[in-house]
Amino acid sequence: MTSQQTAVNPSPSIAAGTEPLIRVRNLGKHYGALEVFRKIDFEVGAREIVAIVGPSGCGKTTLLRCIDGLLPHDVGEILVGNERVTEPIAGVAMVFQHFGLFPWKTVYENVAYGLRMAGAPKADIERKVPEFIKLVGLAGFEKAFPYQMSGGMQQRCGLARALAIEPNVLLMDEPFAAVDAQTREILQFELLRIWEERPTAMIFVTHSIEEAVLLGHRVVVLKGRPSSIHEMIEIDLPEPRTRETLQLPRFAELRERVWSTLMREAREAEFVLEK
Ligand SMILES: Nc1ncnc2c1ncn2[C@@H]1O[C@H](COP(=O)(O)OP(=O)(O)O)[C@@H](O)[C@H]1O
Ligand SMILES: [Mg+2]
Repeated sequence: MTSQQTAVNPSPSIAAGTEPLIRVRNLGKHYGALEVFRKIDFEVGAREIVAIVGPSGCGKTTLLRCIDGLLPHDVGEILVGNERVTEPIAGVAMVFQHFGLFPWKTVYENVAYGLRMAGAPKADIERKVPEFIKLVGLAGFEKAFPYQMSGGMQQRCGLARALAIEPNVLLMDEPFAAVDAQTREILQFELLRIWEERPTAMIFVTHSIEEAVLLGHRVVVLKGRPSSIHEMIEIDLPEPRTRETLQLPRFAELRERVWSTLMREAREAEFVLEK
């Protein structure tokens, strides 16, 4: 099969021989009368990054919160390993768009939070917290408070806090949307470096098409009202992904493909008259 054919497959599945870790089946969610999405079906491998793009308000955050067990879904099921998600489960961590740090806690205490909540022994906390602070490049800033740090540093701290519980599922909700463009690029490659070192199943929500294509092994395009999976695009770019990846003709092709899918949707949405 050529790479072109692979990319147009409407629902490429995870690589052969890879056991899925997250299974989302026929998922549906309402808020009262508002049906946010329906019939969402996809799987994520234990060592796979699935990026999700879709117009604002299509339910990306809602979907992540359902997978995290923070919100109940009303139709279908979510499995992480063999566990059915009905409430937050161990081994799943979330990184939020607005960092989600406790402003009154230092970097050290923010990173230690998840471990303390999980009842980790003191010795474990003292060993792991510095390790994850170092991994995200914040060594030396253990005693800093969030207000003293740039957005990029705060999100490094958010990432360290998520990683400290050594999750096998990492859920990222537009984690770099609130930082400037240069910092965003630095953090994208930092994330890839960290993921290579400690791979997990990852769902990465973004509204940046470039970011989705750079980071994802597959890209899910959500659309419609209520939304559902419009397309699942395999990103057959070589790994590890680096700055050179951005220069590849194949990168440009894939970016165009995701872009045209989303633009069709945006145009249709723009020209709808309210009844
Ligand atoms: N707690 C809530 N109660 C009612 N409606 C909500 C709630 N959270 C989100 N919504 C609505 O659900 C839709 C999807 O929201 P969201 O998941 O935040 O979308 P996205 O992350 O894709 O922008 C939007 O129309 C939003 O206004
Ligand atoms: Mg959102």
